[in-house]
Amino acid sequence: MAVAADATPDVPRSENLATDILTVRLATGDDLAVLLPLMDAAIEQLQRGFLDDAQIESSKAIMGMDRQLIEDGTYFVVEIRGTVAGCGGWSRRATLYGGEHSAGRNADLLNPTTDAARIRGMYTHPDFARRGVGRLVLEASESAAAAEGFATLELMATRSGRPLYEAFGFQPVEEVEDASSGAPVPLTRMRKPVTATTG
Ligand SMILES: CC(C)(COP(=O)(O)OP(=O)(O)OC[C@H]1O[C@@H](n2cnc3c(N)ncnc32)[C@H](O)[C@@H]1OP(=O)(O)O)[C@@H](O)C(=O)NCCC(=O)NCCS
Repeated sequence: MAVAADATPDVPRSENLATDILTVRLATGDDLAVLLPLMDAAIEQLQRGFLDDAQIESSKAIMGMDRQLIEDGTYFVVEIRGTVAGCGGWSRRATLYGGEHSAGRNADLLNPTTDAARIRGMYTHPDFARRGVGRLVLEASESAAAAEGFATLELMATRSGRPLYEAFGFQPVEEVEDASSGAPVPLTRMRKPVTATTG
């Protein structure tokens, strides 16, 4: 963890961690007015230091919001003292990453006994980075996926997301580049066994 923190001096660990009160709830369609600009700010600002300008532009097409997750009841909002600080969730559907505009979507339902549940759409507002928002979304997602019988989680990590996922126990399984939208964006497919209890 120390190595990752040293690699990203522009995203300092929060000074307020001890006093932050984080709450998590399911997202609704009414949250989108806040979540869409939050997502844009996260993609634009929190990837600096990991990607160059051209790669960040490409990311805007590769990444995005997927309303299907909200409709499925698998997308969470994290608030800090009542202010929306971040979002993210999981999916029982095959699409591994991307927004609803992205190519290669597949809404087929996964089989919990043979497939890995997906972690999707992780975005923290830059003002609330490094306060445990992403970790709380992962905990809520893992618990919900466990309750539906999934034994494994899988995701496609951005360079910005990878330190969070490594800290949460994900291991890299494949390095890829998404060149579908301009400058190629490096991504890492990662997996972890579900360890959360369903209680
Ligand atoms: C990835 C992202 C969601 C992480 O959100 P976050 O709320 O800041 O993450 P957390 O505060 O829960 O981080 C938990 C731990 O993960 C690790 N971590 C997270 N971000 C890190 C970073 N930039 N550098 C080093 N370690 C980091 C740390 O171990 C951290 O614990 P610590 O702060 O006590 O050291 C956020 O950076 C983001 O929105 N990035 C842009 C969009 C994106 O790429 N999303 C991922 C798509 S796959």
